[in-house]
Amino acid sequence: MDRMAGKAVLVTGGGLGMGRSHSILLAREGARVAVSDINEDAGESVVEEINSAGGSAVFFKHNVAAADDCHRVVDGCIAEFGQLDVVVNNAGILIMKPLHETGDDEWDSLFNINVKGTFYGCKYTLPALKKAGGGSIVNISSIYGMVGASDSAAYVASKGAVRMMTKAAAIDLAQFNIRVNSVHPGTIETDMTKGLLASPMASQMIEATTFMKRVGQPEEVSAAVLYLASDDSSYVTGSELVVDGGYSAQ
Ligand SMILES: NC(=O)c1ccc[n+]([C@@H]2O[C@H](COP(=O)([O-])OP(=O)(O)OC[C@H]3O[C@@H](n4cnc5c(N)ncnc54)[C@H](O)[C@@H]3O)[C@@H](O)[C@H]2O)c1
Repeated sequence: MDRMAGKAVLVTGGGLGMGRSHSILLAREGARVAVSDINEDAGESVVEEINSAGGSAVFFKHNVAAADDCHRVVDGCIAEFGQLDVVVNNAGILIMKPLHETGDDEWDSLFNINVKGTFYGCKYTLPALKKAGGGSIVNISSIYGMVGASDSAAYVASKGAVRMMTKAAAIDLAQFNIRVNSVHPGTIETDMTKGLLASPMASQMIEATTFMKRVGQPEEVSAAVLYLASDDSSYVTGSELVVDGGYSAQ
């Protein structure tokens, strides 16, 4: 219950879905958690849930694609906790369109959030992590950062970029005792996928593609995030942890 004792953590996009679940698990394991999200109501409600269960959390409104916001959030973490040890770059969006129908503006907005947001989450938290003597950055990619998929060229490209940026960051930041790893969820039941999973074809698609024959739950990904965030993974950096029910096993 105390694998994160003494650690201060930032979870971006912590208001809903997997970010919510990561925030709650990390807090339950003893971390002080900064939940940041562009959705204020969602973020505030997670913080309330953590604090009323006896944990320690604070909310920051945050657009990960805005550099000024990132600086403000990091300053807020230091003001609140006095330190920052772990960053979970989780915020992301999905646009489902084939390549030839993807608008230039859609490409840019998706890349600004999924890729530049992760870049900022690594770069602008660095001074705080260095000051803490090291730390762990967990970047949320996707199984679609490893294999292709239909109707999602921009998303797949963005998650591939997150995967490779993670490896490059791991190399650059090892000298500061900062580990950087990526997590690659398969299809997980969240707000992001609820439209997709509501379609009559969804269960057929999961049966056909996922060896465990079911979608994943956010908590099953949070367990992987906890491992990479905690000292349990003290010699793990530049790695990619797949949590996909066997989707990519073949
Ligand atoms: N759900 C899946 O099947 C799945 C699979 C693989 C990877 N992922 C990735 O996992 C992460 C979380 O996905 P999810 O399914 O929980 O999504 P979700 O849509 O349920 O939640 C995403 C959260 O991010 C926040 N957010 C969106 N844009 C933001 C921004 N610009 N700045 C700050 N916060 C922002 C939203 O308000 C929301 O709280 C994403 O990076 C997603 O790409 C999801």
